[in-house]
Amino acid sequence: MTFSNDFLWGGAIAANQCEGAWNVDGKGPSIADTAPYFKNKQDYEDYVCFHMMSKDDVFDCLNDQEGCYPKRTGIDFYHHYQEDIRLFAGMGFKVLRMSIAWSRIFPHGDEEEPNELGLQFYDKVFDECLKYGIQPLVTLSHYETPLGLALDYGGWLNRKTISFYEKYVKTVFERYKDKVKYWITFNEINVILHSLYVGGAILKEYTSNNLDQDCFQAIHHLFLASSLAVKWGHEIIQDSHIGCMIARREAYPATCHPEDVLQCLDEDQMNLFFTDVQLRGYYPRYMNRYFKEHQIVIHKEAGDDELLRQYTCDFLSISYYMSVLSKKHIDENTEIAVGNLVNGVKNPYLESSTWGWQKDPIGLTIALRELYDRYQIPLFIAELGLGEKDVLTKDHKVHDDYRIDFLRDYIQGAKDAVEAGVDLFGLTVWGCIDIVSMSTSEMSKRYGFIYVDVDDLGKGSYQRYKKDSYDWYKKVIESNGEEL
Ligand code: BG6
Repeated sequence: MTFSNDFLWGGAIAANQCEGAWNVDGKGPSIADTAPYFKNKQDYEDYVCFHMMSKDDVFDCLNDQEGCYPKRTGIDFYHHYQEDIRLFAGMGFKVLRMSIAWSRIFPHGDEEEPNELGLQFYDKVFDECLKYGIQPLVTLSHYETPLGLALDYGGWLNRKTISFYEKYVKTVFERYKDKVKYWITFNEINVILHSLYVGGAILKEYTSNNLDQDCFQAIHHLFLASSLAVKWGHEIIQDSHIGCMIARREAYPATCHPEDVLQCLDEDQMNLFFTDVQLRGYYPRYMNRYFKEHQIVIHKEAGDDELLRQYTCDFLSISYYMSVLSKKHIDENTEIAVGNLVNGVKNPYLESSTWGWQKDPIGLTIALRELYDRYQIPLFIAELGLGEKDVLTKDHKVHDDYRIDFLRDYIQGAKDAVEAGVDLFGLTVWGCIDIVSMSTSEMSKRYGFIYVDVDDLGKGSYQRYKKDSYDWYKKVIESNGEEL
């Protein structure tokens, strides 16, 4: 048997993409609630990444009576959580990776007292999981910083946000210390490099004329916040495991030309910078040159370095969907492979999904082996999965053999890594029930084992139906990964 007997098999969701009920029971808006439905990724990038959100944009979204904001309704997990968790239990889940919507607990972000109704909701969700023997694994912040902190403080660019986060994590650690043992401090902490708004809740008004400086200053604050979460997690919760997470950008040199190999190393270090700080406890020397070239000076306060050094994370989790190529000289003829936020040069040896994401299960083996060699701490796959257009037949079936094939290959990739000595303690398939897409806010891109009858505009019965992959994954879990 390859996987350990207590291997954590399960699925992953995020509050802002599934819960809905965005203004119910005292919840305040989060940055995710300002994300409109985009017909395609380019519109999303133009709006969120390149254009940069301003306060006016935020207010336009909040006052917009006509637009469609699917994350505000999600799949209405808020009212369907019992049914959904029962369905997860039906597959034999050992773990459910989910997030807490921070603005359900602190609606504006800076309140003195938490919102009791928000806390009660997660009590019910965790109890429901535990009833079936499912461990909740909770991401404290999954692209859903309270909008109040973005508008009034400049999000993570402002050092004060660290103390708001600290208060929030202490609150939820105290409240759920007997129910939740596994936590992740930030979802894909490196994504701030691609969007200051999504990753850092930073609005245009707060930025300077050196966006690199702003970005890395905010990253410093995120690092400190993550260390504080580790500190409090260990202090408050017995047997706690507090992990960090990156969107793993697995890249190969586009050719064996040394320039491409060096380019690949540079890009890889930019990805590993985040885990190096959170796991080794200090800024790696290779960043010094980058900081110098981009006129970046990180403002640190006394005690910052000690905090980072003392409170490193207990495990490393990754999302992994695809790999890319690195190339020194790119021109208009270079074909680009797209992901949601991670892009690179196209690999001629790989096939792509309908959304252009390059499928590379061997890349997962490579990623896990490299990361384990580097850090020698337990690894967790927090996300992998395939977003595709599914068809619900008249008799309410979804024949998603393409998803089964994809997951079989990727889980085999994980298995190969474990056989090569990697300490992997769990795996959660992304969007185990169909949820709203993070990037484009569409429903058409479905990842789930469970189909939810709702369309891009939020219309539908919200009924849940098992896809063919549901029974397949159930067998995978039952056989502890022996039967793929
Ligand atoms: C990850 C995010 O990057 O990718 C998830 O953590 C997201 O929130 C997932 O949903 C898939 O991306 P998308 O854009 O297809 O939903």
